[in-house]
Amino acid sequence: MNVKHEYVLSNGVRIPSVGFGTWQIKNGKDAYDATLAALQAGYRHIDTAAAYGNEESVGAAIRASGIPREEIFITSKLKAELKGYQTALDEYAKTISRLGVEKLDLYLIHAPKPWHINSNGIEYTEQNIDTWKAFVHLYEEGKVRSIGVSNFRPEHLKPIIDATGFAPHANQIFLCPGDAQKTTVDFSQPYKILTEAYSPLATGRLFEVPKLQDLAVKYGVTLAQLAIRWSLQRGFLPLPKSVTPERIRNNFDVFGFDISAFDLAEMENIVLPPWRG
Ligand SMILES: NC(=O)c1ccc[n+]([C@@H]2O[C@H](COP(=O)([O-])OP(=O)(O)OC[C@H]3O[C@@H](n4cnc5c(N)ncnc54)[C@H](OP(=O)(O)O)[C@@H]3O)[C@@H](O)[C@H]2O)c1
Repeated sequence: MNVKHEYVLSNGVRIPSVGFGTWQIKNGKDAYDATLAALQAGYRHIDTAAAYGNEESVGAAIRASGIPREEIFITSKLKAELKGYQTALDEYAKTISRLGVEKLDLYLIHAPKPWHINSNGIEYTEQNIDTWKAFVHLYEEGKVRSIGVSNFRPEHLKPIIDATGFAPHANQIFLCPGDAQKTTVDFSQPYKILTEAYSPLATGRLFEVPKLQDLAVKYGVTLAQLAIRWSLQRGFLPLPKSVTPERIRNNFDVFGFDISAFDLAEMENIVLPPWRG
């Protein structure tokens, strides 16, 4: 099966199909070195967020790479707890300034509700609509190349689309073998919302799954490569993270093998080990 090296968003913007994740990589040398290693390994898509606190070092590494800015796709996110029209405009200005870029390729609302709120976030509907209106404004003014959301389920997506008539270009959600997020993916398709798969290795939990260990041996690849390739064959955009240069390279080397339809389905049915924090 042919997988794409790039996807095309609903507005025609091209986006490299594997992105480099930077969550939990400290600002400073760690984020700088990891981002630079990713760019040197061939990644042309970097995923950061205001909440990760590492936008400065990610931006510095992008400049140091010597790769022309227009060849690198940069995503960042508005903090989950910061909502509202003017807040979104102000925070966008801060994010591009920290990254040292003129504009982002993709700006996301990080989550439908602040992380510490234990409800489903429906009560943030009005704030999300106001925030989304600011995102649409930034997009229509040409200040950002594409806009989207993260951690949104259908009940969060529908109100912002209904209120603005503008569907996100992308939705970044937790998605990996064992948790294929069918409801959100199915809802997104008619709107041509690209699904980005965050934590494609389940933040490391996938390595404990014997079925995946066996399949990795069968295909002669690493378990990480198997999981990342699964995302691509399903049409998602995986965002693997690593601070280890060898793993960073390995995770990008996913275009030379093919998982059978049977094994793709088997991978979907694995049981994820519990999250241990
Ligand atoms: N929008 C959101 O709310 C959200 C939430 C979570 C994540 N994300 C995005 O998705 C990205 C990835 O998710 P994630 O950070 O949860 O982690 P992940 O990519 O699912 O897994 C990363 C873990 O796997 C290890 N690892 C990576 N490649 C490996 C390999 N080839 N062999 C063995 N171990 C390997 C890493 O270790 P080392 O680093 O030590 O090598 C790290 O412990 C994030 O960085 C972020 O950009 C977004």
